[in-house]
Amino acid sequence: MSNRNPNATGTLGLGAHGIVLGCDYNPEQWPVETWHEDMALMQEAGVGIVAINVFGWSQVNPGPGEWSFDALDKAMDLLHASGIKANLGTGTASTPAWLTTKFPEVLPAAIDGTPRFPGGRQAWCPSSAIYREYSLQLVDKIASRYADHPALAMWHVSNELGCHNALCYCDNSAAAFRVWLQDTYGTVEAVNEAWGTAFWSQRYTAFDQIHTPRLTLSTRNPGQVLDFQRFSSQQLLEQYQAEAAVIKTHSDKPVTTNFMVTAHIRNLDYWQWAPQVDLVANDHYLDHRLADPTTEMGFAADLTRGLAGGKPWMLMETAVGAVNWQPLNVNRQAGELVRHAVSHIARGSDSICFFQWRASRQGSEKFHSAMVPHAGTDSQGWRDTLELSAALKALAPVVGSTVASRAALIFDWASWWTLDADNTPSSHVRYLDQVHAAYTAARQAGLGLDIVAAGADLSAYSLVIAPALHSIGDAHAQAIDAFVAAGGHALVTFASGIVDEHDAVRLGGYPGAFSSMLGLKSDAFYPVAPEQRLTLSDGTTGSLWSENVTVDGAQVLATFAGGPVEGFPAVTVNNRGKGKAWYVATALDASGYASLLTSIAAQAQLPLNPGLDVVVRHGEDATFVFAINHGSDNVDYEFHGVDLLSGEHLDGPAAVAPGTARVVREEKP
Ligand code: GLA
Repeated sequence: MSNRNPNATGTLGLGAHGIVLGCDYNPEQWPVETWHEDMALMQEAGVGIVAINVFGWSQVNPGPGEWSFDALDKAMDLLHASGIKANLGTGTASTPAWLTTKFPEVLPAAIDGTPRFPGGRQAWCPSSAIYREYSLQLVDKIASRYADHPALAMWHVSNELGCHNALCYCDNSAAAFRVWLQDTYGTVEAVNEAWGTAFWSQRYTAFDQIHTPRLTLSTRNPGQVLDFQRFSSQQLLEQYQAEAAVIKTHSDKPVTTNFMVTAHIRNLDYWQWAPQVDLVANDHYLDHRLADPTTEMGFAADLTRGLAGGKPWMLMETAVGAVNWQPLNVNRQAGELVRHAVSHIARGSDSICFFQWRASRQGSEKFHSAMVPHAGTDSQGWRDTLELSAALKALAPVVGSTVASRAALIFDWASWWTLDADNTPSSHVRYLDQVHAAYTAARQAGLGLDIVAAGADLSAYSLVIAPALHSIGDAHAQAIDAFVAAGGHALVTFASGIVDEHDAVRLGGYPGAFSSMLGLKSDAFYPVAPEQRLTLSDGTTGSLWSENVTVDGAQVLATFAGGPVEGFPAVTVNNRGKGKAWYVATALDASGYASLLTSIAAQAQLPLNPGLDVVVRHGEDATFVFAINHGSDNVDYEFHGVDLLSGEHLDGPAAVAPGTARVVREEKP
């Protein structure tokens, strides 16, 4: 066997051509005979890269100072002989039993301080010096042994860092938190000031009095909780950096780790992480607990592109069919795998990789879908895999092209942490819900978005949406104001601008940081129960929130026609410099939100494609128009080029059938 895989390449600077098809490969779960069958089937499917040794610690390092590389050597050699590249795991994700038996202090502690036991995965404290020492020893062994292996394409540090162990409340974490606070604030007085410890007699007089924010009888100090989130994200990033540094002493191949930009993981501030990885990789699984999982998939992919600074990125894991960890594990319907993959590729992914290659027989994930299901190749999963493989080959010309949007949504982890904290005006107002509502309205209006950080350079945009941007520092708020003054259009929604970067309320009226830009203020919130609808004067409805806005320069577009603040403004617009800033003081219903965005986009002169999910990737000689129909009716779109998926030449309006996608290559003049 030699390099004869059509997709046997990397991408993203891995020397590749083609959208790479890949997967997690766990040969340690199978007898060696199966590995040979695996290689043949991977070649049939065109698998180009596999993540291997992700959970390999106990195999390669079965005891302190004991090393056993035979199996991994063999697997790496087989991959190479089969023309398949390795995304080689450092193996540090899950500790072996001997380590936590010998050093129980490696184990993380839950919020009540009790230890979490081994027997699952990620049973390690991010601040454990012993874990750091032993994990780096492992990384050094792996990196030195395989740095020059011909199968090696890239390095996969750990696995989904922080998936389970992001917030550890053990004594080691407390000690590390104190060091972080000392580095961040210098003095204990500065910590007191940042956390507002005059409240409830919480003042500290020495660093050693400060703990992790363990479970208390009442609610915990919100400033402390916020800083603990920041610290925890940083601790895991340091583990990533430490592993990457060891790898780089042996190898110049790209190093990364798989992010979890999904609907349910919120502990890592990936804006801090992204600059530290050689290429951005994400794991995304459809979350069927959400009202609209497909739209969230688009949001996550757009956010991943934002993290990648607009460059192509890698979808490192998704599922061929159902996962095993939701209450109801919904399978993909016919055609969905390709359509969903196209949605990721449209938004900048140059690869589609799955968890996992072969469905496990044992262990917690035995009911998770895989490319080779329990039934083998006479199965829906395998047929879907082959169908996808053909589509990815057809999409090869797209590789390396990039998306350029003129509208952006600001996404901010500190706002997520603070708005979803205890004791806010309404526990029903959740940050991600508000972000998803804005993104969904944009999708309904047909507006494509970049997702950017607070403080990002906004000069490429005509429109910026800031949903529930609760916590914001002065400089970042001023940047949005300057964007508007220079001629930009901004939409800010309720719960924004209320606290600063330490979660301290901005005085003088809400929405504090944005009052001048918006030409208004309120002095009291009137949240309502989730089931209550608030009718507005323009016939639309709101929910969850209202406030007693008084305008100071802004024009009122709609008022509350009932509810606790009847007659007060609900939707406003303010002329500011050469631009305009809108405010919405309630959670607008989906169609009201979409019509507002339609009107704002028209004023910002942005093109809209309602009814379809349209994204354009720009290459050197051509543009690639991705038109994805997630709905149930035919939608026409005007194309001028070749549909890479169907091979059709299109010159004028053509239908995108329900549940399908077209990717049309349009030559640049
Ligand atoms: C994550 C992990 C994998 C696996 C899948 C299951 O992506 O990285 O190891 O647990 O979830 O969906």
